[in-house]
Amino acid sequence: MSTRENWGSRFGFIMAAAGSAIGLGNIWRFPYMTGSNGGGAFLLIYLGIVIGFGLSLLMAEMVLGRTTQKNPVGAFRALGGGAWPAVGYLGVLTGFVILSFYIVVAGWTLAYIAHMATGALSAPGLDYGKIFGDFVASPVEPVVYAGVFMALTCWIVVGGISKGIERWNKVLMPALFVILLILVARALTLPGAAKGVAFYLVPDFSKVTAQTFYDAISQAFFSLSIGMGTMLTYGSYLSKDENLPSATLTVALLDTAAAFLAGLMIIPAVFAFGLNPSAGPGLTFITLPAVFAAMPLGAPFGVLFFALLAIAALTSAISILEPMIAYLVDEHSLPRRGMTIVASVVCFALGIPASLSFGAWSGFTVGGKTWFDLMDFMANNLMLPVGGLCTALFIGWFWSREARHHLSNEGRLAQPWAPLWTFVLRFVAPLGILWIMLAAFLKD
Ligand code: PFF
Repeated sequence: MSTRENWGSRFGFIMAAAGSAIGLGNIWRFPYMTGSNGGGAFLLIYLGIVIGFGLSLLMAEMVLGRTTQKNPVGAFRALGGGAWPAVGYLGVLTGFVILSFYIVVAGWTLAYIAHMATGALSAPGLDYGKIFGDFVASPVEPVVYAGVFMALTCWIVVGGISKGIERWNKVLMPALFVILLILVARALTLPGAAKGVAFYLVPDFSKVTAQTFYDAISQAFFSLSIGMGTMLTYGSYLSKDENLPSATLTVALLDTAAAFLAGLMIIPAVFAFGLNPSAGPGLTFITLPAVFAAMPLGAPFGVLFFALLAIAALTSAISILEPMIAYLVDEHSLPRRGMTIVASVVCFALGIPASLSFGAWSGFTVGGKTWFDLMDFMANNLMLPVGGLCTALFIGWFWSREARHHLSNEGRLAQPWAPLWTFVLRFVAPLGILWIMLAAFLKD
C-alpha cells in the first residue's frame, strides 16, 4: 500500500479532475438540455444548483479521498465501518453502468470525426436525421467505434496516475479549451447568431416547471462527476499539503465555464441557420452537421468540433474507470494492468446491448426503456443521486468535525465558511436530492 501513486503536481491534479468533470455532459448534454428547457432560465437554475450544493458535494468527496488515501470502498470502510462501505460498492457499480452507455456516445463522436473528415457529411441537401438514425442503428460500426474508444481509455488508465491519467489530461485539457474558444468565436461571428445569444442569456421563466429543476439537478451531478466516488478516488492521489477548497473551486469553475461556452458555441450556431435548438439528444449529431454543411469551411470546423467532443469524453471515461481499478488494486491487491484490461472488457461487453438498443435490440425494453435508456436512467436518476445523498449524510452528520479539520489542513487554512458547508451537507443537499428522486419517481 505504501507504493500508492500520487499526482505529480497541483496543475496535473486540477487538469485531471477538470478532465473528469468536463465531458459529454458539458458539450453534448448541457446544450441540448438548455435548448429544450427554455434557454437562459435553465442556465440560471443550473448555476444556482452548482453553487447551492454541487460545489459542497465535490469538496466532500475530495476530502474523503485525500484523508483516507483510499478507493471509495476503502474510504467508507476506514471512516464509517458498518454498512457504509456499501456506498463505495454502489460507486464502483455505477462506474460500470455509466461506462456502458458513455462509450457508445463517445464512439459516435469518433465515427463523426471520420465521416466529417471524408466529406461524407458535407454534401448539400442531406437528411442528417436519417443519416444519424441509420448509423446508430447499424449492428457493427457503432459497436466497433465504442470498442476503439474503450481500448483508448484502457490504455491510458493502464499507464497509472502520473504517467497515464495526469500526463494525458495535461495535454488534452488545454487543447480542449483552445478548440472550444475557436469554435465559440466562429459561432458568434456567424450572421444571425445574436438571436441565439439572446435565447441563451435572457431567461424566459414561462417555460420553467418542476421538471426543469429536476433536469438541472441531475445534469449538475453528472457534469461535476459526483455521486460515484470518482472525485474521491482522484482526491486520494493528492498530497495532504494542497489547498483542497481552492482546487475544488477551480475544478467547478472550469466545468461550469466549459458548459457555458459549449452552449455559447452551439445555440447561436443553431439559430444562425434557422434550426431548432430543442432537438434533444440529436442536437450535436443531427442539427450541428447541418450547420457545418451550410457554413464556409464547415468540414474542418466539423472535424474540430467532434474532436473536441472525443477529447472531452476520453478524459471523463478514464475517470469513470479509475475508481473500480483503485478498488481492485487497493482492496484485493490485484495487478493494475490486468484488472484494467478485465474491467474494460466487461464495460465493452455491457456497451454492446447499449449500442444495439438503437437498432437490432430496440424492441427489447424494460418498463418502456431500451437498455441504453435504462442504464442512463439508473445512473443519472438513481445511482448518482443515492451516492451523493449518502456522501452528504455521512460527512454532514457523522464526520463533519473531522472533515473540517482535514479540509483546513489540520487548522492551517482559515475557513470561515466551513459551518455553511456543513449546513449544506446536512440539509440543503439531502433535501435537494430527495426532491429529484421523488420527481423521477412521480414522473414515471
Ligand atoms: N462528468 C462527466 C461528463 O460531464 O461527461 C461524466 C462523468 C464522469 C460522470 C465521471 C460521473 C463520473 F464519475
